[in-house]
Amino acid sequence: MSLTTGGPTGDIRPVVWDAATQSVVVLDQTLLPLQVVDVQCSDVATLVDAISRLVVRGAPALGVTGAYGVALAMVQAQREGWSTQVLTDAIDSVRNARPTAVNLAWGVDQVRPLVEDGLAAVLSAADRVAAEDEQANRELSRHGADWLLEKLGDRRLRALTHCNTGSLATSTWGTGLGIIRELHARDRIELVYADETRPLLQGSRLTAWELKENGIPYLVQVDGAAASTIARGLVDFAAIGADRIAFNGDTANKIGSLGVALACADAGIPFVVAAPSSTVDLSYPTGENIEIELRPATEVTEYAGHQVAPESDRAFNPAFDVTPARLVSAVVTELGVAQPSQGESVERLVP
Ligand code: MRU
Repeated sequence: MSLTTGGPTGDIRPVVWDAATQSVVVLDQTLLPLQVVDVQCSDVATLVDAISRLVVRGAPALGVTGAYGVALAMVQAQREGWSTQVLTDAIDSVRNARPTAVNLAWGVDQVRPLVEDGLAAVLSAADRVAAEDEQANRELSRHGADWLLEKLGDRRLRALTHCNTGSLATSTWGTGLGIIRELHARDRIELVYADETRPLLQGSRLTAWELKENGIPYLVQVDGAAASTIARGLVDFAAIGADRIAFNGDTANKIGSLGVALACADAGIPFVVAAPSSTVDLSYPTGENIEIELRPATEVTEYAGHQVAPESDRAFNPAFDVTPARLVSAVVTELGVAQPSQGESVERLVP
């Protein structure tokens, strides 16, 4: 039985703490949708590897992983008799496993001050991180749906989304995909174009799977089709997630998001960024200095495990891009909506 997909509410929860084995269990997103397999992380190295390989991924899900990762490090420290320094290093290795999504470090930092209070205190804080993320996702989805229907009229809409921003990328429910799910629940979705999201296919594998499970009509398209689909007037709005949102609304998200934003601006349709407030990083005035993760060249030069480019080490593979605030029609968090393209900062979207 899968702990991540077989819960009592039927919701996918891609990261859970398994009290019976004192481990972090994650749904293996490299195998979906063909195989639904949980990975049990009983030590920090296994968890860091899972984060690096995108077994678990998506900014808010990484936040939850970071929080439970601290508990896991404490369990391992106890089992293996670690010194305080070894425990500190292990927690840091979780915190630094990927650089762009602020949520990973944020999740670690939420619970780390409680380490001295013991495992129960850390676990209950980590449970709170997960519960509050779900609540934030559901609230921001309502705000986003309200804003779009007010802007575009109360009618059935055609959406475009990039990467995966659903339950799989969060504690559960979703952000960009959460808005689409909320609109679908109100019978206001006609069709969703899901960008396949090269090179790891978070769109065609994960978003398509979630849309299908939720009974939402969709078409998968290659990333290169997005601008043309928008320019042809086939899309009413685009909704994406975020890995880090700067004070002015500049947004780091999956590579290819910038192209979608440029096409939306040219077509005059809303480009909406949806995220819990934990993704907003007011310490960055703009997105200029956000670190962009560079991933292995082989993710680009190989296809389904087979080399297709003439040389395996010749590829530029940034995992994220930064969309400037002037192209962001709306940033939506659980606290409401700001319109960066109209000069509004996102300051009031964090508690
Ligand atoms: O490399 P990934 O799959 O972790 O990238 C994920 C994204 O870019 C998502 O859009 C973002 O984290 C928001 S998830 C709600």
